Amino acid sequence: MLYPYKDNETIPVILDGDPGHDDAIAWVLAKAEPRFDIRAVTVTAGNQTIDKTSLNARRICTLLGIDAPIAAGRERPILRDLVLGSVFHGVSGLDGPKLPAPAMELSELSAVELMAKTIKEAEKPVTIIATGAQTNTASLLLAHPELKEKIAQISIMGGGLRTGNWNPAAEFNILVDPEAAQYEFHAGIPVNLCGLDVTERALIYPENIEDIRSVGNQVSQIVAGWLDFFSIHHHELGYKGAPLHDPCAVLSLTHPEIFQGDDFEVNVETQGEYCRGAIVVDFMHRNPEKENVHCVMDVDQPKFVALIKEACRSYGDREVPVV
Ligand code: RIB
Ligand code: CA
Repeated sequence: MLYPYKDNETIPVILDGDPGHDDAIAWVLAKAEPRFDIRAVTVTAGNQTIDKTSLNARRICTLLGIDAPIAAGRERPILRDLVLGSVFHGVSGLDGPKLPAPAMELSELSAVELMAKTIKEAEKPVTIIATGAQTNTASLLLAHPELKEKIAQISIMGGGLRTGNWNPAAEFNILVDPEAAQYEFHAGIPVNLCGLDVTERALIYPENIEDIRSVGNQVSQIVAGWLDFFSIHHHELGYKGAPLHDPCAVLSLTHPEIFQGDDFEVNVETQGEYCRGAIVVDFMHRNPEKENVHCVMDVDQPKFVALIKEACRSYGDREVPVV
């Protein structure tokens, strides 16, 4: 971790994302982490529109037993028009297995208001795990700069140091709101960035899905079903395994020993005609004092899969009615 929590210290966490199949599996891992105390869940648009990602967030939290307020963010990025990633996630944004009806309503607060309240009330600095566009977190920092000192670290799935996935230059989360990411990377808060360099090595193959399914409880069956659906379009694109992006933003904090990375000076292109959303990295370490982002770049794939399987098993025989 970038922040020096003590070994067995409880870690206050805000989950922010656009669920989304891989966001959902990231939240399975976060809830299973004994050190994490999930204080709030905030939602962005991206994989689907905000109404759909917000409903998905409520259903995931019902399935997993995440007892925290859930707040919706803006329906669009700070400056740009919304780009939808629904081709990978379906009409609902979380197509595939049946899920529980939501057991809770959305908070009356906006995402930024809930983030601010959570951080103000926390007894120690809070970790934000952000697996969608960075709109909510950047908006929080713009509205409440005084809270920066109570944010321990931000672990992000986003970017690609050498490539994009939504176009040749840009990864989807950063492309959706490049201004938000650029602002966040220069806010003076430790950033743990899991880009395509690592996430496209965190590949889940059909045999891995069956191994997870073999755990046999409800969570493992639903996670395997999410992976089945998430694999469809990736296989159409020629991937042999589905790149499981968002779980890297959780596991690189909880199990850094299976990852590799380095610190770099990182900027986000916000003006380019062909490169808007591209991550611009100084691999030559020209200005060490400007190195603002820890970039995660590799992972031990078998150990990554084993941790997902272990997390599913940790839910035991928990069974929630689905509709
Ligand atoms: O580019 C992958 C990212 O975009 C993931 O976070 C996925 O959920 C989508 O939001
Ligand atoms: Ca996501």
